[in-house]
Order: sequence, then C-alpha cells, then structure tokens
Amino acid sequence: MTTLDDRETVLDVQDLQTHFRTKFGTVKAVDGVSFSLKRGETMGIVGESGSGKSVTVLSLMRLVPIPPGEIVGGKIILDGEDILELSELDMVKVRGSKIAMILQDPMTSLNPVFQVGSQVGEAIHIHQKLQGNSLMDRIINVLRQVRIPAAESRIKDYPHQLSGGMRQRVVGAISISCEPKVLIADEPTTSLDATVQAQYLKLLRDIQEELDTAIVFITHDLGIVAKMCDKVAVMYAGRIVETGDVRDIFYNPRHPYTEALLGSLPRLDVDVTRLDSIPGQPPALHSLPQGCPFAPRCKYAMDKCLEDYPPTYTLNEGHTARCWRLEE
Ligand SMILES: Nc1ncnc2c1ncn2[C@@H]1O[C@H](COP(=O)(O)OP(=O)(O)O)[C@@H](O)[C@H]1O
Ligand code: SF4
Ligand SMILES: [Mg+2]
Repeated sequence: MTTLDDRETVLDVQDLQTHFRTKFGTVKAVDGVSFSLKRGETMGIVGESGSGKSVTVLSLMRLVPIPPGEIVGGKIILDGEDILELSELDMVKVRGSKIAMILQDPMTSLNPVFQVGSQVGEAIHIHQKLQGNSLMDRIINVLRQVRIPAAESRIKDYPHQLSGGMRQRVVGAISISCEPKVLIADEPTTSLDATVQAQYLKLLRDIQEELDTAIVFITHDLGIVAKMCDKVAVMYAGRIVETGDVRDIFYNPRHPYTEALLGSLPRLDVDVTRLDSIPGQPPALHSLPQGCPFAPRCKYAMDKCLEDYPPTYTLNEGHTARCWRLEE
C-alpha cells in the first residue's frame, strides 16, 4: 500500500514573502512562510482575520494585486518548477492546469448565460487544446468526476436549471477540469449556510478521492480542519507560528496562540474569527512590535519575547513551532 510518505511532493513553498505598500508603510502580509504538500494531502490554514491566509494562497496562484502587493522573496516550487520564475504568459498556462482555486459560492462563479458544458470545457480547450468530440467526452468525464448524475444530459443546461448543490459541483468541475496538482479552497467572506457548506466539503472529498489532488484549505472552523485535513498551519501576523499533523495540533499544541485557538476544546466548532478565548486584537501588520507579535496577548510572555522574534523549533518530524518557551 502506498502511504502518504511515499508520495511525491507537489508543492514546496520556501520562505515566501508578500508585501503591500500602503500609506501607513509596508505591510508584510506574508513574512517568510514555508510548507510543503504531497500528492493527495490536505493542509488547513487557520488564524484570525488579517493573519495572511488569503494573501498566502493568492501568492501561490500569483494573483496578488500588483501594486500595492508584491511577492518580494521566496520560492514556490510547483510540480518541480519555481513558478515565481515564470513570465506572466507562462503563469497563465500553469494557473488552472497545475494549480487551481475552487470558489465556494457557486452563484458568483458561473456565468448565467452560458451552458454548463461550455463553461467546464473552456479551460480544457485552452490548456489541453481539445475540441469536437474529444472535448465533449472530456467534459462529460469531468462532470462524472464531480459525481454529477446523468452528466451527458446536463451539459446543455444553464446554471439556473440546476440545484444549488449541482451548481457547486459544476464550479468544482471547472476547477479540476485540467487535473491540477494543487487545489486551493479559501473560505468565503460571508458564511455559507450549513447545507451548502456540507455539500462543499463533500465535493472536496469526492475530488480528492477521484484525482488525488493536494488541497490547501483555509477555514475559520476548527471542526472542519479536524475532519478534512492531514496537517495544519497556524498563522499569526503573516507567519506560520505552528505547523504539524492534525493530531499534533489538536492534542499537543505547543504554541500559546494555537493553545488559545483551541481554548474551548472539546467543542471543535470554534469560530476563529470571533475569539473570546484570546484577549486583545491581532497587531496591525504595518507597525508590528519588536519581538514576538503575540506577546501583548500571551499569558506566558517573558522579557525575551519583547526583544527578539523566536526561531522555529522542531518538536518532532513535521511538527514545528515558533515560541521562546520551546528553547531548552
Ligand atoms: N489589497 C491589499 N492592500 C493592502 N493590504 C492588503 C491587501 N490585501 C491584504 N492586505 C493586508 O494583508 C493582510 C492579510 O490579509 P489576508 O491574507 O486577506 O488575511 P486573512 O488571513 O484574513 O485571509 C491584511 O491584514 C492586510 O493588512
Ligand atoms: S515567544 Fe513568548 S510571547 Fe511569543 S508566544 Fe511564545 S511565550 Fe508567548
Ligand atoms: Mg481571507
């Protein structure tokens, strides 16, 4: 049996830095983020609003708005190639075919005036140059991969003729139409109702089962992380402060911020955007304090924490945290 450990690394992010130039100064929205993903692996990114989750994944797609944003450093090795070295023209070929984003709101991502088949076929036609019958076969196959029943007869439907759940599956079909190695799922700004949310998670699981795609999954819901993810990256003020497999993070959190996020365990349905367990606010990224940016809210803060940012400590394989308390 192949275990996750034998699989190839499809995404290797090294010391990624994405900044925004604003009138208040430089905002280091992503400040030295590193992680890697193997085929079929799902990583959750958690952290309060403004911690740099969306900018991280936008950077992976190279969709950060320039200006005011800019990827100023690091490497993003996707399927063996550093995509930060690519021209925008070459990046267009990579986007959609090797890395794709799946939007959670089906209404805003489908065009009401086109049949669903042509919307699914667009990327396939562009990236894989298929047309005619072979394009049609491929569209039907993709619709089947997202488990749309009677796919052959659905391709001529318009979005309004489908149920909400089926529309979401069509959106999923568009994202995976070129069999990307990495799929990015960022939480919507407005929350989805529970049914739509459940359908969406089921869709992601189906896609992973069919295609063995690696998924980067951003959510504010730690219960979903526990259910969906193999590993977790906890972000605070533009940096990953702790990362590990789901068990490390939930049962042996070593960073005070992770501990606080999980403060209300065993209830897992904690909403990270509204944290009662952590007093205070995340810091403004344009004027970060010296030292550990969590210090003003940390019940363990020591003098040292106010002076220098802690280095990354490796606790066991794949489990790291950045906190002075881990210094031996
Ligand atoms: N277009 C932008 N212009 C200026 N600053 C931005 C822009 N987009 C994001 N930022 C900055 O990056 C930080 C991280 O944003 P984001 O990644 O969207 O956070 P989240 O973790 O909530 O997804 C924000 O706090 C903000 O300061
Ligand atoms: S480095 Fe210090 S302030 Fe930062 S999380 Fe650790 S103990 Fe708290
Ligand atoms: Mg976000």
